[in-house]
Amino acid sequence: MTKNSPLIVGVCGSARVGSFNQLVLDHALAHVQSLGARTQMIEMRGDTFPNYCEDLETRDGRPARLDEIRRLCVEADGFIMASPEYNGGPTGILKNFLDWVSCPSDAAPGIPFREKPVGLLSVSPGRLGGIKGIQCLRMILSHLGMHISGKEFAFAMAKANTKGGKITDDFMAKEVDAVAARLLELAQ
Ligand SMILES: Cc1cc2nc3c(=O)[nH]c(=O)nc-3n(C[C@H](O)[C@H](O)[C@H](O)COP(=O)(O)O)c2cc1C
Repeated sequence: MTKNSPLIVGVCGSARVGSFNQLVLDHALAHVQSLGARTQMIEMRGDTFPNYCEDLETRDGRPARLDEIRRLCVEADGFIMASPEYNGGPTGILKNFLDWVSCPSDAAPGIPFREKPVGLLSVSPGRLGGIKGIQCLRMILSHLGMHISGKEFAFAMAKANTKGGKITDDFMAKEVDAVAARLLELAQ
């Protein structure tokens, strides 16, 4: 890995301690790193991005870490996003992140998402693995002009297929690796 290696940024739609989506995203980022990429994870704590409101931005200015995060997204060669499905869509946390970062910034100029490849993952303790959330997220990301990888994975039955922060099911681990590897090909 060198400073010219592709930079892949991970974005998780859950800030929950013990999040299954974070676990799978960590696995995917470790895999692209093993293939030579640089990786960075965006911290998605509740206080990083308050609920977006134009009045907030005018009155209080931009959240403290927003421009640093926006610069990272502008620098990124590709993204891997993992989000739970909440009521058939991606989480509010993820949409709120996209809304904040998509707003132009003089302090962090450049294009964060347009023409960038993105690989999608969703994890659920249920049987469908959040596939409807991925479909809905696709619409939003294509509106932003992202190139959505054809290789995606909705990881079902998360409790039975993970243990101690790791994926225990070989098929699922390989599918997540394949999403990560394809995204890296698109980012190169
Ligand atoms: C408000 C809410 C809505 C949810 N809706 C769905 C859903 O539509 N489909 C689904 O598979 N799981 C749904 N779940 C369950 C989540 O998949 C589950 O909480 C999952 O563990 C969240 O991901 P995380 O472990 O990464 O935090 C929902 C959970 C919450 C709190």
